[in-house]
Amino acid sequence: KKERTLAMIKPDAVTKVGSIIQMVYDAGLILTKAKMTKLTGKQAADFYMEHQSKSFFNNLVQFVSSGPIIVMELMGDEAVSVWRKVLGPTDSGVARKDAPASLRAQFGTDGTKNAGHGSDSLASAARELEFFFPSTAGHGPTNTA
Ligand code: CMP
Repeated sequence: KKERTLAMIKPDAVTKVGSIIQMVYDAGLILTKAKMTKLTGKQAADFYMEHQSKSFFNNLVQFVSSGPIIVMELMGDEAVSVWRKVLGPTDSGVARKDAPASLRAQFGTDGTKNAGHGSDSLASAARELEFFFPSTAGHGPTNTA
């Protein structure tokens, strides 16, 4: 089933963007939107609000807002699960043991500095894509020349 997902290159891996986009295409996905941005602490907390009760929340928010990130819309068959397979296990230390070719094994450090993110479901993908690439249709006046 053709899907869209939100992929993020976190601040620790932005310099690896070339290799990471190659991994997108090698996985059979295509890149349909991309931008570099930097989140404030509040924006990072909003993005990760599902984790607000977790012990690692503050570390996560501080890390992901510590520098520029690159966000991408990826499209393809089973894009949500395919991209999470490319990422590998959440903790880069675990990834180096269990999935050494994965993005997090190659470019991340530990459970917080883990190089990348991918939506965990179609519902999350819809929300996360809207967060970074808001649709303008239906909001406000339409320009018609
Ligand atoms: P991500 O895919 O961006 O989604 C949630 C993030 O929470 C995850 O990657 C990790 O960066 C972070 N995370 C999950 N579990 C832990 C943990 N045990 N310790 C620190 N950070 C974590």
